[in-house]
Amino acid sequence: MKAIPWFVFLGYICLASLHFGCAEGATHYYDFVLKETNFTKLCSTKSILTVNDSFPGPEIRVHKGDTVFVNVHNQGNYGVTIHWHGVKQPRNPWSDGPENVTQCPIPAGTNFTQEINFSSEEGTLWWHAHSDWSRATVHGAIIIYPKRGTTYPYPKPYAEKTIVLASWYKADVMEVITDALTTGADPNISDAYTINGEPGDLYDCSNETTYRLAVKYGKTYLLRIINAILNEETFFGIADHNLTVVGTDGAYVKPVTVDYIVITPGQTMDVLVTANKAPSYYYIAGSPFADTVVPFDNTTTTAIFEYKGNYTLPSPIPFPVLPVYNDSDAAATFTNKIRALNSAKHPVNVPQNITRQIYMTVSTNILPCPNNSCLGTSNGDRLSASLNNVSFDAPSMSILQAYYWNLSKDVYTTDFPEKPPTYFDFTGNVDNITLYTSLGTKVIMLDFNETVEIVFQGTNLSASENHPMHLHGFSFYLVGKNKGNFDNATDPLKYNLIDPPEVNTIGLPKNGWAAIRFYADNPGVWFMHCHLERHSSWGMDTVLIVKNGGTKATSIRPPPAYMPPCSKS
Ligand code: C2O
Ligand code: CU
Repeated sequence: MKAIPWFVFLGYICLASLHFGCAEGATHYYDFVLKETNFTKLCSTKSILTVNDSFPGPEIRVHKGDTVFVNVHNQGNYGVTIHWHGVKQPRNPWSDGPENVTQCPIPAGTNFTQEINFSSEEGTLWWHAHSDWSRATVHGAIIIYPKRGTTYPYPKPYAEKTIVLASWYKADVMEVITDALTTGADPNISDAYTINGEPGDLYDCSNETTYRLAVKYGKTYLLRIINAILNEETFFGIADHNLTVVGTDGAYVKPVTVDYIVITPGQTMDVLVTANKAPSYYYIAGSPFADTVVPFDNTTTTAIFEYKGNYTLPSPIPFPVLPVYNDSDAAATFTNKIRALNSAKHPVNVPQNITRQIYMTVSTNILPCPNNSCLGTSNGDRLSASLNNVSFDAPSMSILQAYYWNLSKDVYTTDFPEKPPTYFDFTGNVDNITLYTSLGTKVIMLDFNETVEIVFQGTNLSASENHPMHLHGFSFYLVGKNKGNFDNATDPLKYNLIDPPEVNTIGLPKNGWAAIRFYADNPGVWFMHCHLERHSSWGMDTVLIVKNGGTKATSIRPPPAYMPPCSKS
């Protein structure tokens, strides 16, 4: 699982940004070779797209302030892009990766070198393909150690382990989404979840390869947990052992000790666990949190927390108690405990005066289909999704390139609505509200350094559920969330402006709202979307363009000499 950078250069790198300053950091070089590789799971063999033949893919390990160059060699069968999830990439959207948002796909048979600039992130993030559903198998951890000479804000763990949660399909994942978009119906659900590539003992043909986390009695381990699952959120726990969450999404939080965590696709959590129980085997388990009526993979992945030493094996192996799949309250109980560390060394900087407030409904919808020939509804419609009733119509060329070279009018429009186009009881009875939405490639334009608040409003249209909303180019503060409709007079009074968690992905409660704040201090073109892959495919996406600030240090960097070609450019 580990990729060894072939060359590490310690030097002085100037990130040249207002907020990040010049930093002393190392430069690392990696080669990512995308290619098809055969894997056998659940008694069946198939070819999957991998990086360097591994699933999950190689880890990137850096210190805060470092720079990484990854040369992505596409030896697969189709064009793909790679995204560095949660890395802010100051002034450098060119290497961010979402397909047709910041670049066109890297054609098969070619390569593209991406520059990843680590600025304020510290903890765990991850990278993944950002083209259709290829991220199912093309993903891996990014581990960001404290800046050289500094340490964790918690006692140094005895050892660190990465835990990557993912989805496994017996079918070809790209066919699953292509078929779903063709028929207009729900995509097929996955056949298993995996922990570090292995489904675990509860699935057919899997118990010989179950992931084992070997621990020594009395020692404390740091688990870097990444949720790379496609379409479900996850409850995760270890039998009889507490978990102490110390970080999330590459930022520290006040340590909080719990029996289980809730982690959405896109999120990462750094968790301490002490091996302080009778030496034995204990199950580690991940089961879905899916508070919805649509089909989902209701299976459980396991690994074994295995003490070293001699003892009689337990029968049965203790199993963690996790909430049932639709327990929204259990999810909220956990997420409400997460607060930023907010220490002298790791302060929060929440915008207090907002210059731009955006209120955005998040809905699942339908769209008409020619001759009512689709299978999404009994009337022959196809399933869709939207933000403020705009279903994102992905362009066939890069929005970043169109913006930078002023070709915008053919590619996108700047009229994304900043308020819902119609008001109704969003989270109540919506029987009289149309489910139809409409397509558009509409972006939000922000001036440099605006103080932005986005209030996401879940709606009860079609199939409501929790949505993991994710923004590229930033981390942001989750200042408030609750069930029901957002009230702009009373709810802001209850915001946490003291120690809100600084994250890149939030679970928007089912039929509820969530408010985030950030400084628009990173010029560029930044994708924002639900991290449930089917919702993103259906159009639950938009783009924020942060304009240049007028100086070199507040402007998008010039493009690299080579970008993957777009057919339209
Ligand atoms: Cu995990 Cu658009 O990203
Ligand atoms: Cu969603």
